Amino acid sequence: MIRLTDSEFEKIVSYVKSNYGINLIQKRQLIEARMYSALTEKGMNNFTDYFALIKQNNSGEVTNLINRLTTNHTYFMREQAHFDFLKKAILPMQEKTNRQKNLRIWSAGCSSGEEAFTTIMVIRDYFGMREREWDYRILATDISERAMQGAKTGIYTADSLKNIPADWKKKYFRAEAGEMFSLRPEVKDQVIFKKLNLMAPFVFRAPFDLIFCRNVMIYFEQPTRDKLIQKFYDVLKPGGYLFIGHSETIQRESSPFRYIEPSVYQKGYK
Ligand SMILES: C[S@@+](CC[C@H](N)C(=O)[O-])C[C@H]1O[C@@H](n2cnc3c(N)ncnc32)[C@H](O)[C@@H]1O
Repeated sequence: MIRLTDSEFEKIVSYVKSNYGINLIQKRQLIEARMYSALTEKGMNNFTDYFALIKQNNSGEVTNLINRLTTNHTYFMREQAHFDFLKKAILPMQEKTNRQKNLRIWSAGCSSGEEAFTTIMVIRDYFGMREREWDYRILATDISERAMQGAKTGIYTADSLKNIPADWKKKYFRAEAGEMFSLRPEVKDQVIFKKLNLMAPFVFRAPFDLIFCRNVMIYFEQPTRDKLIQKFYDVLKPGGYLFIGHSETIQRESSPFRYIEPSVYQKGYK
């Protein structure tokens, strides 16, 4: 183990927080443990040299740092109540009111893609034969290139599929060697993955109907969350929804969103 000095620790915490929003103040041991092999691979024995490399433009090392320091745990059908709400409330309403039949969805902090692909399965399942009439797509973004790499292959372990109903497993996946499962193209091709830092200004061609940002803001401090929530509000259509993780909350007094049910918020129509 290579130990962080107090000043090295402060520098890394402040760098990650100001650039990516993630607060690592309680994570000294995690940084030491996850960065150990990155330092030794470069023949370094202290974090000061490593931090100098991070600060060098074009070293590419920031990507490695972020890949190692982000927490990417996720699985299909996580927090199923959101998918039930999508199926029971949002999609029926869209069918009644959305004349263009187009749906723009953003999975912000998508990790390895399970959230976005679950959403596609719910949409396909709900519309059935009518699915062909709809133009729907999900933009899935993250800062971790390594997490998204897995998503782009569309190949998953049996364990990450454990909450998927048996008929969906047959319908939307193909069994591969070694107890792996690959997504069928009709699901895989509906999701576009892009690297995007939620701390950067948002530039999108059109507003979204739905935004998922679940289990991402838990790593941020309150002022960072408040700014991000306002940014999500600005890029949603009137009547659009924001889903956050069930362990997260939005402060009702300071937020422009309407509370709908735990971890589901709506932008008003006015
Ligand atoms: C625990 S995963 C959540 C995955 C999925 N949304 C879910 O609920 O299962 C959190 C993800 O947020 C990403 N993340 C953290 N800070 C971010 C930032 N500033 N911009 C974009 N993504 C970020 C991490 O890389 C990680 O993949």
